[in-house]
Amino acid sequence: MAKVISFANHKGGVGKTTAVATIAGILAKRGKKVLLVDLDAQANLTKHLSQENFDVEGAQTIFTAFRDKELPIYTIEAPDSPSLDLVPSTIYMARLDAVLATVRTAREHVLKKLLKPYLGEYDYILIDCPPALGDVVVNAFTASDFVVVPMTTDVYSYYGIELLLASIDEVQENSNPDLKLAGLFYNRKDTRTNISKVIEATVGKMGLPIFKSSIRQDKNLREAPLTHQSAAYVAPEARAVLDYEALVDEIEAL
Ligand SMILES: Nc1ncnc2c1ncn2[C@@H]1O[C@H](COP(=O)(O)OP(=O)(O)OP(=O)(O)O)[C@@H](O)[C@H]1O
Ligand SMILES: [Mg+2]
Repeated sequence: MAKVISFANHKGGVGKTTAVATIAGILAKRGKKVLLVDLDAQANLTKHLSQENFDVEGAQTIFTAFRDKELPIYTIEAPDSPSLDLVPSTIYMARLDAVLATVRTAREHVLKKLLKPYLGEYDYILIDCPPALGDVVVNAFTASDFVVVPMTTDVYSYYGIELLLASIDEVQENSNPDLKLAGLFYNRKDTRTNISKVIEATVGKMGLPIFKSSIRQDKNLREAPLTHQSAAYVAPEARAVLDYEALVDEIEAL
């Protein structure tokens, strides 16, 4: 049975998409079967891994999946590395609210139902959430076993974290009592600055689960999308990828 994990933080640019792409590559190299679901209208994960244009009328995407109740899965081949399966996103996801508004019952269960037939086929299903906390993210949390929260150590990084926790609580109460916050991890950690120590101490006092592994700043992660491959494939020795290897050890132990 697949472990379903949402990568979420309503704050933009903290590293959700990069985490999903890198962790997926690491898991695939470890022989795991991985399905990626891009839920973000920005479609950054899709653009990172695929060169196909899904912003065209008629393309089968996560948007059409919500509308037509059929999940399109594309296999992304990589030279000399294991392929990854992807449900791509599209700019049309920005219109999803209108589609969900027509769903009369169990609006938050649409994604869970779409994934259900595939749980036996994969070891991991990783969901890349948009920087928001609306219906789409509620769908992601309802379909998930775990939420992993990437954080940065800049000043405003923990503002509003209560809102994210409240969303998790709400889903636990209403649509998925089994959902667990797996933990927060620090991305682009800058060990030289005092501010990151202050932020870590502040977040530490919140009593939330925090992964032991954190991810260093590394330009290899910024460059990986240009190759349309996971950084785990194109820069396996990069320091941030090695950091992600340690994080994946923790995720596999969940
Ligand atoms: N450890 C890192 N070192 C250097 N650059 C990084 C690192 N992690 C992520 N980045 C870069 O930071 C930018 C934002 O990362 P990413 O797109 O993964 O964030 P996100 O949380 O998915 O953003 P959004 O909320 O817009 O979806 C990207 O350019 C990415 O390549
Ligand atoms: Mg993203």
